[in-house]
Amino acid sequence: MKVQALERVGNRLRLLDQTVLPHQVVYKDLDDYREIIVSIKRLEVRGAPAIGIAAAYALAIGVQQDTSHQRDYPMDQLSALADEIRRARPTAVNLFWAIDRVMDRIRQAGELSKSSLVDMLWGEAEAIHEEDRRMCRQIGENGAALIADGDTLLTHCNTGALATGGIGTALGVIYVCRDQGKRIKVFADETRPLLQGARLTAWELMQEGIDVTVNCDNMAGTLLQQGRINHVIVGADRIAANGDTANKIGTYPLAVLARAHGVPFYVAAPSTTFDLSIATGKDIVIEERGGNEITEVFGTRVAPEGVNVFAPAFDVTPTELVSAYITDTGVRPGGRTD
Ligand code: MRU
Repeated sequence: MKVQALERVGNRLRLLDQTVLPHQVVYKDLDDYREIIVSIKRLEVRGAPAIGIAAAYALAIGVQQDTSHQRDYPMDQLSALADEIRRARPTAVNLFWAIDRVMDRIRQAGELSKSSLVDMLWGEAEAIHEEDRRMCRQIGENGAALIADGDTLLTHCNTGALATGGIGTALGVIYVCRDQGKRIKVFADETRPLLQGARLTAWELMQEGIDVTVNCDNMAGTLLQQGRINHVIVGADRIAANGDTANKIGTYPLAVLARAHGVPFYVAAPSTTFDLSIATGKDIVIEERGGNEITEVFGTRVAPEGVNVFAPAFDVTPTELVSAYITDTGVRPGGRTD
């Protein structure tokens, strides 16, 4: 892939700042965990799997930079650091999954010197990164079996290399189709309010030579009505035990439209995005972001001062609207029956 969202460089984390794409390609080398938390909050690094990977690196960097403990590192301090990182964003379960996984490994390891702890934290972060890379490829291969040469896909938000440690989830399926020689066309919802589709998906797919067309979110219905879409494919931030799926705001209406037009609706996600601890989507915490993301377009006010704003960053698509889940372990049926 020509694009990589994050990378370990020595004892730092290198992030591609996604807030300035596609106009500028700016990398940030971070050696302070607080800067990584800010980058997650500001969406400089974003997408559920990438957030989880960044969180694991933040834990390693947080212990590494703490000079108040030279020989060993108190467990309660590590837990406090983990909790601080957990608060960066609430919806994508990969963040919590990654932190929990690292903390479990550390507890299992027992007494550790500070330098062994730092080595182990870097090692776990790199393992999570590498496993995500492998899961993306597997998702791509499993999903590509559903797509035929000449198909046109509609997607929402950004689910590619920018959002993961590898080739992506929904976009990973498209890349594997390309590698298999299938000629695929993609429509990318612009994805209001922060335009991950127009700014990131369009840019990323063009870097990879994929035929991509941007449409406003409210044009998806017309595309489906005109019979121009063979499959809708999206990613996920958290999938509850019953299959209800939280993803970028605007995913739910797309699923309703797909069913109304008899077009399959696929959710592509790694195993790390399934949260079996919650029964249904009602239990998923939905992030509310600043109202200025709605009332302003890149710093220019477009709504009247003082107006009320509704600003959820994600919505929940009930499993009844999902045709199938494309995961690293295979394709599982959703609750949609047509
Ligand atoms: O707010 P964002 O840009 O982090 O939201 C990202 C999404 O909703 C993606 O669709 C999801 O994380 C899947 S990424 C493989």
